[in-house]
Amino acid sequence: MASVAELRPVRLAFLPELSLRLASSLEAHWQESEPPWWAVAWVGGQALARFVLDHPARVRGRRVLDFGAGSGLVGLAAASVGAVVSAVDVDAAAVEATRINAEDNGVSIDARCVDVIGQAVDVDVILAGDVCYDAAMAERVLPWLFERARAGVEVLLADPGRRYLPREGLVELARYEVPSQGGVEGDARRSVAVYAVTTRAAERTSIT
Ligand SMILES: C[S@@+](CC[C@H](N)C(=O)[O-])C[C@H]1O[C@@H](n2cnc3c(N)ncnc32)[C@H](O)[C@@H]1O
Repeated sequence: MASVAELRPVRLAFLPELSLRLASSLEAHWQESEPPWWAVAWVGGQALARFVLDHPARVRGRRVLDFGAGSGLVGLAAASVGAVVSAVDVDAAAVEATRINAEDNGVSIDARCVDVIGQAVDVDVILAGDVCYDAAMAERVLPWLFERARAGVEVLLADPGRRYLPREGLVELARYEVPSQGGVEGDARRSVAVYAVTTRAAERTSIT
């Protein structure tokens, strides 16, 4: 896999406002212990970025955290409409990708390689694009996202209906038909919802 800096910036038809350094396919990397997930614009992240670009007032002037940033596309969307953006990912290459993509787009993002699950974060909004991708991640991240919502943070989550998405406690705000990118989804397009994480039913979040 090329490094982030070696990838050419591209513009996705679904998000023409943003320039992103992405791989056209991750197929050659499936067997790697740590595939370069940051080199893909996940359908959840694409939908959340689209939602932010379409509803700029929701984040403008607010302190926004892009949680599980990957390429940083959600944070880039928020920064480009006037939010004060920080981004976290536990993959150092994702943090580098977020920084380089921010530079390419002429926006500022404070990107850090840190695991903030379980911690209070001093932001107004948390944006989480496609973070329910496996059981272990969902079991850790969902209780924390609900806890942050109860603490008064606006939490938005976008997901194409993956198995580990909770069935309660989410309010659908928008739905998009998103072209998959990088070859990680079976379908050419996925129907992806953007949800507000509510304070209700958080303790009943079930992963089945
Ligand atoms: C499926 S990718 C989604 C990336 C991006 N949000 C998007 O939609 O394109 C999930 C990301 O979450 C990151 N991640 C996993 N555990 C994390 C944690 N504890 N804290 C922050 N990021 C984490 C992974 O490294 C990966 O970049």
